[in-house]
Formats: sequence, C-alpha cells, structure tokens
Amino acid sequence: MSRLEGQRIIVIGAGSGIGAATVRRLAREGARVCVADINMEGARTVAQDVCDSGGEAHAIAIDLADAPSVTDAVTSSVERLGGLDGAHINAADLRVIMEDSDAQTVSLDVFDRTIDVNLKGHLLCTRALLPHLLVNKRGAIVYTSSSAADAGEPVRPSYAMSKSGLNALMRHVASCYGAQGINANSVAPGFVLTDEMESSGHLTDDIKDYMLSRIPGTRLGSPDDIAGMVAMLLSEDGRWINGQVFNVNGGALMR
Ligand SMILES: NC(=O)c1ccc[n+]([C@@H]2O[C@H](COP(=O)([O-])OP(=O)(O)OC[C@H]3O[C@@H](n4cnc5c(N)ncnc54)[C@H](O)[C@@H]3O)[C@@H](O)[C@H]2O)c1
Repeated sequence: MSRLEGQRIIVIGAGSGIGAATVRRLAREGARVCVADINMEGARTVAQDVCDSGGEAHAIAIDLADAPSVTDAVTSSVERLGGLDGAHINAADLRVIMEDSDAQTVSLDVFDRTIDVNLKGHLLCTRALLPHLLVNKRGAIVYTSSSAADAGEPVRPSYAMSKSGLNALMRHVASCYGAQGINANSVAPGFVLTDEMESSGHLTDDIKDYMLSRIPGTRLGSPDDIAGMVAMLLSEDGRWINGQVFNVNGGALMR
C-alpha cells in the first residue's frame, strides 16, 4: 500500500497506544513520520520499530502543556521532514482521568490539567502546524476526540468537555481554512484496548466482558482500528471530507 508515499506527517502523542499504531500504519502506507510525545522513550522505540521495518520515522520531544515546547517541536520536525503535509494530534493526559469524578467534586487541578493538555495543547499544536500546511495550500489535520464528547456520561466531565471542545476547534479549523486547502476532522474512538492497558493489569476479564457486552460486535476495538481511519483521512481518499467527527466504536454509540 503506498497511498501516503512521500507524505510528511507528524503524529503528536505517538509514544504508545493509538498514536503508536497510527505511526506504524502511516509508515506502512509510505509516509515519512515524526513521532512526537512527552514520553521520549516510547517515541524513540516507535520510531526505531518503523526504521527497522524499512520505513522512515524520527522521534521528537513535545509537551502540550508548554507553549514553547510545542513551537520548538513543530519547527524542528518540519525542518527535519523538509515540510509538512499532515498531522494527527492525538495526545491526552489520561493519568488524571480516574480522578475526574463529577461536576460537584472534581478538583480544579484535575480539570485544569485535562483542559491544558487535551484542549489548549491542541490549539497550540494547531497554531504551530497551520503555517506549514497553508504554505502548500493543502494539508490535513486529524484530531483524536472520544465518544465521551457526546455520550453524556455521569463521570469524567472534564475529559468530555475537553473532547467536545476539541470537536469545536476542529470544525473551526475546517471552516476557517478549508478554502485555503486545509481539511480537518476528528476521530472519536469508543473503548480501545491498547497494549499499555493490557500490561497495566487493571483490566480484568470481567471488565473486558462488560465492555464487549456494550458493543453489537464480536470483539473490542484495537489501536489499528483507529489508525486505519486516520490514514484514510490523511490520504487523498479523504480530500473531500472536512469538518466531520467519525465515531469508530464498533457500534457502541450510533448516530
Ligand atoms: N483507548 C481508548 O479507549 C480511547 C477511547 C477514546 C479516546 N481515546 C483517545 O485516544 C488518544 C490516545 O489514547 P490511548 O488510549 O492510545 O492512550 P495513551 O496514553 O497510550 O496515549 C496518549 C499519549 O499522549 C501522550 N501525552 C500525554 N500527555 C502529554 C503531553 N503533555 N504532551 C505530549 N504528549 C502527551 C502520552 O505520553 C501518550 O503517548 C487520546 O486522545 C485519548 O483521549 C482513547
């Protein structure tokens, strides 16, 4: 498959899970990929895997909660790639999600951290990326949202607000810059079982069975399910898709 042959793409939040699977998928389809993450060990491992498989990738450090870090990381990755054709902004701080309780009790530190990384950080990335995409008069941005944005859950209000806000940012980018050749879309995963979740030991068989019982299907989601959608949206096949949220959730939430 060479749908992305020679495309220069940055994946932000790519040191593990869905972002790592997306890097591997994009590289398999021919893209040259920058693997950006706060977790440099993870980012280096993912980039090395791609290179060992004959692809092209390099790792770079980025912290979405730190504006200069975002600008520096984007500038150096664009220099290294020799330009930019697309981006997948996927990072989220999921360490605080278990404390994201409800509207009455959630600590403002948890709320602030969630919004800083999952929402403000995405605005910072968008600002840093856009000039490099606009210069080509074409380019694609895919954001990772979540089904939590629309699910109306009784828990994790900060996370849901951050992802809902992210969809609003995506629609703004699509409408403001579409006529200049930019398309922006969100992928909203349902529950996706990552290697890191498996190895954490927190996911018992009972929890997995419960998650599966909520899906009209035969298996849970994998990071590759999301990576395939991102690759399509970043490719020529996605050129006439703009301003949309794609639910990739095995049918857990139907719209
Ligand atoms: N796995 C799921 O079930 C699921 C469901 C819906 C949405 N999502 C979304 O998918 C995306 C990826 O999640 P995942 O499940 O692969 O988890 P993950 O923790 O493996 O991926 C998140 C990545 O973001 C990075 N990150 C965290 N804080 C950062 C910061 N300040 N700056 C830069 N990078 C930072 C992490 O190091 C990690 O590599 C997230 O946006 C998450 O909200 C996941």
